[in-house]
Amino acid sequence: MLPKEVKDLKRKIFWSFLIILLISSTLIGFLSVNLVNRSYTNELEKRLLTNAQLIATMIRSDKVDLTSKSFQQGMKEMAEVGEARITIIDSSGKVLIDTRSEAHEMDNHLDRPEVQAALVGKEKERVVRYSHTTDQEMLYVAFPVKVNNSIAYAVRLSMDLSEIEILTRNIVRYIAVSTLFGLLIAILLGSKLIDKMIDSIRALVNMTKQISQGDYERRIYLTNNDELTELAEHFNHMADKLNRLITKLSESNSRFQALLASINNPIIAVDPKENVTLMNVAAEKLFNVSLNDSKGHHLLEVIRNNELDELIKRSLKEGTENQFEINLKVPEEKTFRIYTNLIYREEDPIKVMGLVILIDDITEIRKLEKIRSEFVTNVTHELKTPLTSISGFVETLKSGEIEDEETQRRFLEIIEIETERLTRLINDILTLSEIENIKNKESKSMFNPSKALKEVESMMRPMASVKGIEFYFEIPGKLSYIKGNEDRMKQMVINLIDNAIKYTPNGGKVSFIIYERYGQLVLRVKDTGIGIPEKDIPRLFERFYRVDKARSKKMGGTGLGLAIVKHIVISMAGKIKVHSAGPGKGTEFVISLPRHQ
Ligand SMILES: Nc1ncnc2c1ncn2[C@@H]1O[C@H](COP(=O)(O)OP(=O)(O)O)[C@@H](O)[C@H]1O
Ligand SMILES: [Mg+2]
Repeated sequence: MLPKEVKDLKRKIFWSFLIILLISSTLIGFLSVNLVNRSYTNELEKRLLTNAQLIATMIRSDKVDLTSKSFQQGMKEMAEVGEARITIIDSSGKVLIDTRSEAHEMDNHLDRPEVQAALVGKEKERVVRYSHTTDQEMLYVAFPVKVNNSIAYAVRLSMDLSEIEILTRNIVRYIAVSTLFGLLIAILLGSKLIDKMIDSIRALVNMTKQISQGDYERRIYLTNNDELTELAEHFNHMADKLNRLITKLSESNSRFQALLASINNPIIAVDPKENVTLMNVAAEKLFNVSLNDSKGHHLLEVIRNNELDELIKRSLKEGTENQFEINLKVPEEKTFRIYTNLIYREEDPIKVMGLVILIDDITEIRKLEKIRSEFVTNVTHELKTPLTSISGFVETLKSGEIEDEETQRRFLEIIEIETERLTRLINDILTLSEIENIKNKESKSMFNPSKALKEVESMMRPMASVKGIEFYFEIPGKLSYIKGNEDRMKQMVINLIDNAIKYTPNGGKVSFIIYERYGQLVLRVKDTGIGIPEKDIPRLFERFYRVDKARSKKMGGTGLGLAIVKHIVISMAGKIKVHSAGPGKGTEFVISLPRHQ
């Protein structure tokens, strides 16, 4: 609490105290003054009446001479004893005796109300009036004296009321003094009490402030054993609970964070308004954003894709689990499978808290699927062509329409060529699928490539000489070992030299050299043939890709040779490059394989 607030509170309490005290003491004063006044006056009146009655009885019974000195003296003594003034007035209003003034000097008293009342027989009239004779508030009581059944005199007794005034003044003084005292004690005690209370409140306020700022260890201990102490105990209890709860929460939160971070799939959570609430490291990496910058922002601001936005909106609306596929630019186009799941509030399973989006990158899977299905289409096509041609020629021969032997022989030759091509095709497909499927499981060993290469030379030289191609083949005397499958390596070189001879016109030149450089075995197959256009080079190693389909077929090619070469090179952890100076300017394939240390 601020000092100003404390002061305000103190002032409020003080003024309330003061006003209550003043009102109550004024009320008490007023009531007690009134009460004392009345009872005093009543008492006085009773006394005066009794005396007046006594005097009246005296006058009546003794037939005293009112003018006698002794009676007058008696009255004076009586007045002195009773501290009252006695006046006897006859029925005409003339004052006969007065114990305080000379009777003959006094004026006619018929106009005095108490005298008038007594002269008409009233016995209990009392009048409070200001007396000019005595210069004071006086209480007057008059009593009639009957002589021979008619009222002959009125005996009047009076007393000044100055004593009441003194009494009232004293009462007021006492009350004022005790009020002042009470006030003083109230202020002293009250301010001490308020101070203590305010201290406690301030401590409580401080504690809650510190707890709200995250200091959950903070506790408060009050000693004044009142409601505030009880409140403080409740506060401490609450803080304990809060502390335990927060610790538990933060523990489960860090477990959750660790779990989230360990998941390789990108995960994003959004609230029902599609604002991002959570994101794991994988998601941050994929979309190149940070959770801190994205939190609270709409999903569209994080992943700018309207289609995704629509799908997420629908998932939020339709609920339950959902999955769909979508292409996103991150920044290159990729295909993702997206799984969404609504999250509900634990205590209210109808209320949707948000949506969890799990993202799976299936670009590679889709690419492979596409390659595979294209391959199947291509294989089917490649198989169908020779088969159609074979069955056509077989049909014709069977019909017996062709009688010319020469033509029959030609047809059979074509059937043979097509059958061979089919066999080659099937072999190539088998080889390719073997290399692809076995890959790492295939038996690999250390071997010196010289022996296999010599076999390749003796296999290929006749082919070259048939075409009148100069064949240059060079293997150095000493070669390092390499790791891999020997048969496959052989196949690799055969495929390249086969192409070189096939795509080099008669009289050309084909050369093969192998050497070591920078820890690598370098194999070069070079020809002076038709060359390869620049634009075809990137696709050259794809299955069934040919620069010139008709030419390849005429040569008996399957379109799988280079695809097989590429896979073998990869299986041996090597690299392959193609150089061609352009159409008609020859081609060179360069393979580098890691040498075994
Ligand atoms: N040495 C080369 N010179 C010219 N073109 C070549 C050469 N080697 C391969 N090619 C081109 O690459 C294509 C694919 O080769 P490959 O996979 O071995 O299939 P093919 O069965 O046609 O030989 C060939 O059709 C050809 O167009
Ligand atoms: Mg080939």
